[in-house]
Amino acid sequence: MAAKVRKAVFPVAGQGTRFLPATKVVPKEMLPIVDKPLIQYAVEEAKEAGIEEFIFVDSRGKTMIANHFDYNPELEDALFAKGKHELLKKVQESTLPSGLAAYTRQEKALGLGHAIWCARKFIANEPFAVLLPDDLFFYTPNCLKQLVDEYERTGGYLLAVHDIPVEDTNKYGVLKIAKDDGLTVTAEILVEKPKPEEAPSNVAVAGRYILSPEIFEALEKKAIGSGGEIQLTDAITSSLGKVTCTGLRFKGKRFDCGTMEGWLEANLYVGLQREDSRDLLTAYLEKLGFSRENKDSDF
Ligand code: G1P
Repeated sequence: MAAKVRKAVFPVAGQGTRFLPATKVVPKEMLPIVDKPLIQYAVEEAKEAGIEEFIFVDSRGKTMIANHFDYNPELEDALFAKGKHELLKKVQESTLPSGLAAYTRQEKALGLGHAIWCARKFIANEPFAVLLPDDLFFYTPNCLKQLVDEYERTGGYLLAVHDIPVEDTNKYGVLKIAKDDGLTVTAEILVEKPKPEEAPSNVAVAGRYILSPEIFEALEKKAIGSGGEIQLTDAITSSLGKVTCTGLRFKGKRFDCGTMEGWLEANLYVGLQREDSRDLLTAYLEKLGFSRENKDSDF
């Protein structure tokens, strides 16, 4: 049986230039989807999937993230004194327990692979999850839980994958597939952001991974890849002789909140799902002339 996945790494060092000026001071991971910051969705997903330790790889200007998950006695006391128990509960739920969150720095923006390498001492010798907070998923069980459940069977590296339009291959890590049973695929190699005409398939990595410590040996080589950066995709490929790599076609919706389009769509999606905003948002959309044939359907 594969070892339990207890730790998760959250790479949160990226600058988020697509959202300037909003991200001039506020980290992009702190941008809300309705009323909750993106990074909190990823942390909650990890908690629900059984993760016990949370490792954030951040950079200068990102201390707001550590503060968000910290205990805030003044705020809690004030909410308690005013009898605002619902809000107090929300604040308490956003706090990570002492000693279970660690923050480490990626001093230079050298790529996703380098960011994961920066967490090596916190992982030591066990499998771990990686959650890219830009990618927001909705389904029960959540995307990481789907991976954790499948990992019992596969071990090795296990990545969330999806079938994408061929013209989008240059936005993703893309798998060359040795075997495909419809639900899972076995990867032969991975290619980071290939041009459509050079892509080995249209099966792409989404931002959830289960990796094992062999990845650090590969990352140690600090090989420069696509975009002049140290790519996680390349490190996965270079350790494939030692470790198997399986892709699991995840169930559910994914929003790429690293783009304006994905972020706007996610806000609408969550706003229309949540009981406290569904009716007012639907009424506003109807006022604007949009109508939903079936208000109860997922979309
Ligand atoms: C990263 C990874 C890429 C993966 C993608 C998923 O790219 O490098 O392999 O497919 O996340 O969102 P980024 O979107 O950070 O450029």
